[in-house]
Amino acid sequence: MKLEPLKIQHDLVAWLTVAGDKIRQSLTEELQVNTKSGRNDLVTNRDKEIERFYVNQIRTYYPEARIYGEEGLGDEINDLSGLIFFVDPIDGTMNFVKQKENFATMIGVYLDGEPIVGGILDVMAQRLVVGGPQTGVMLNGRPLSKRPSLDIKDGLIGVNSRMLSENINQVTDLIRLSSGARITGSAGVEFSQVIMGKQIGYISNLSPWDVAAGWAIASALNIEAHTIAGQRPSLLKREIIIAGIPTVWQNFAKLQS
Ligand code: IPD
Ligand code: CA
Ligand code: CA
Ligand code: CA
Repeated sequence: MKLEPLKIQHDLVAWLTVAGDKIRQSLTEELQVNTKSGRNDLVTNRDKEIERFYVNQIRTYYPEARIYGEEGLGDEINDLSGLIFFVDPIDGTMNFVKQKENFATMIGVYLDGEPIVGGILDVMAQRLVVGGPQTGVMLNGRPLSKRPSLDIKDGLIGVNSRMLSENINQVTDLIRLSSGARITGSAGVEFSQVIMGKQIGYISNLSPWDVAAGWAIASALNIEAHTIAGQRPSLLKREIIIAGIPTVWQNFAKLQS
């Protein structure tokens, strides 16, 4: 199989755009909301419809690929071999239900565990970041360059609310060293903030489909992602991820020692 990252990138742009249009058009329609693991873990009929749309597209145009989708319409994935599409149909479902903004739809594509391309659409802001190590990164069609280095005191760090309630010392210490913390409630939107240079980092407890798109794009721009132990994201389980320009991990590691 010949891999064509640019073709995959074009397909991601097309699919994410269609999905974003579908989600925005359906905002006035009644939503069926159910809980999954607990009262703060929501899923709607829209999450499932959008995942079904992506799965149909991927099966049609990339029949050799496997699909790791949040809502379970893809494949059971226990290893990273071959071509895998990581699909998060609505990232920030709580925001989608409660705020009708600050949510994303996103897909990350990996070959044997290596990033190929990712795409994140902030649905209501209509901000699409897409790209990867071989294709470069675009924001709504405009190229983005590598993030400049910045001192920890000069940048904002995004976190999820669990990070605050779990009170992990290095996280609170790192935030104290920074310009401050921000909580958006969507990993995709947070990764986009880092990719666009509006935040220097993002720390959160994330599943593979939460990390895959952002990490694929970020890896083209001098933005790293580490687990607490300093390893690369496993993309196979939920784990704490420290993403950001190198200074974020350097300071986090120093606080650990
Ligand atoms: C969640 C959001 C949230 C993050 C959680 C994710 P979902 O994704 O990205 O910001 O804190 O860890 O699970 O479930 O809304 O797709
Ligand atoms: Ca979810
Ligand atoms: Ca998600
Ligand atoms: Ca989701």
